Amino acid sequence: MHLQSSNLICWLSITSIRGAAGITFENVEHTFDTLQTWYNSSTGLWMPSTGWWNSANCLTMIANLAAIDDKIKDRTKDLWQEVFNNAAEYNKQMTQAHGAFWRRKLPLELEYRDATDEDTANVGFLNGYYDDEGWWALAWIAVYDLTLDQKYLDKAVQVFDDMHNAWNTTPVGGVWWDRSNTYVNAISNELHFSVAAHLANRRPDQKPYYVDVALNSWLWIYGSGLINAQSNIEDGLWAKDETGLNLPKVWSYNQGVILTALTELDQALQQPLYTAMAKLIADAALANFTSMLDTHDPDYIIHESCEPTCDDTSSLFKGIFVRSLARLHAVAPEDRYGIVLMKNAESLWRNVDQWNRLGSVWNNTTVGAGASAQCAGMDLFVGALGTLGEWEGDGVYEDGKAHSQ
Ligand SMILES: *[C@@H]1O[C@H](CO)[C@@H](O)[C@H](O)[C@H]1NC(C)=O
Ligand SMILES: *[C@@H]1O[C@H](CO)[C@@H](O)[C@H](O)[C@H]1NC(C)=O
Ligand SMILES: *[C@@H]1O[C@H](CO)[C@@H](O)[C@H](O)[C@H]1NC(C)=O
Ligand SMILES: *[C@@H]1O[C@H](CO)[C@@H](O)[C@H](O)[C@H]1NC(C)=O
Repeated sequence: MHLQSSNLICWLSITSIRGAAGITFENVEHTFDTLQTWYNSSTGLWMPSTGWWNSANCLTMIANLAAIDDKIKDRTKDLWQEVFNNAAEYNKQMTQAHGAFWRRKLPLELEYRDATDEDTANVGFLNGYYDDEGWWALAWIAVYDLTLDQKYLDKAVQVFDDMHNAWNTTPVGGVWWDRSNTYVNAISNELHFSVAAHLANRRPDQKPYYVDVALNSWLWIYGSGLINAQSNIEDGLWAKDETGLNLPKVWSYNQGVILTALTELDQALQQPLYTAMAKLIADAALANFTSMLDTHDPDYIIHESCEPTCDDTSSLFKGIFVRSLARLHAVAPEDRYGIVLMKNAESLWRNVDQWNRLGSVWNNTTVGAGASAQCAGMDLFVGALGTLGEWEGDGVYEDGKAHSQ
């Protein structure tokens, strides 16, 4: 085919825009526009593209983005209240529709009861899963950090109280995954630890209480057997019918939540005791999810075992991991973490499609696009921008920053 030279120039310049992999606030603002096409203001959730707990993670990511990008902060000033009201209302309706699904454990009793009107009236961000509750608690803490509006912190405290009611009620200690007591897993316990550690730094009047809870939660995780010989955190520990224990065992988000929890605990204790443990877990995760240690052909791209067919649950996991890796890098930097953030962000941006959708495989054309993969990818950009600053074109990592070439 014969190309007119003017067409050729035009084609080349379009290609070079798409081929430029630098990360700027403007790029991320475009991905935010795309994310909001999946947002449903009547529920305050990114549904039906993704689900309940996933939406909590999208909210966390957006609050973290708004904290470093004034344009997004301005655009989201009404979002927090809308989610606060409408997502709670949605949850109330769901709880009423599935009354038996809400079963509050009576103190010191092993019996369960169905939801009463009183339960559903005050359901807020509580449901049958302690991990879902933990994600919402962290989301409201992120919104509190941004807005300093006390009601968001109060909400996180209320949610945490419910999670903490499940503490030490399982056959093996820790908290349950679910209110119907079928599984004891890593994520619910890591979230219990993380929310307690966050609250220790945000409620000075209650600090000794939250430090004590966080420390006990960490000591339980450390001694539970969830951390394997490779320093990877496995998914679960105890299951009523053992099914959960046969699932693929090492997911990236389980290696992520703990990193932030450990750095928050150090901040509360004013001593860098646990950050070293966070680095051990982060390095073990990077050894597992990337081939960066390959001496012949190191590759820094993070892969989840479900790729390329991750669903809208598992396509969020890597975002949670890199959000936490970026947090670790912010408080205790290591060049290898900066390089991982830079290389993954560039690779993902190189693969963005014409609608600014992000895929769930960070080195492939957009596969599995939707609100989950979008939020996960944006977590990567937010983590990279927050720690490395903006850069254009293929970057060079130097002096702890990504520089344009
Ligand atoms: C938003 O959510 C409501 C309530 O679930 C639903 O009826 C409506 O169809 C959703 N809107 C879109 C555009 O998906
Ligand atoms: C990741 O870790 C799991 C469990 O520790 C192990 O079975 C798997 O082989 C590891 N994968 C890689 C690529 O190291
Ligand atoms: C890459 O994406 C294509 C679809 O765009 C898919 O068919 C393929 O399986 C993916 N490969 C990997 C390794 O993710
Ligand atoms: C992405 O990376 C994986 C693991 O290194 C590799 O197997 C795959 O071929 C890569 N995909 C593309 C499209 O380059």
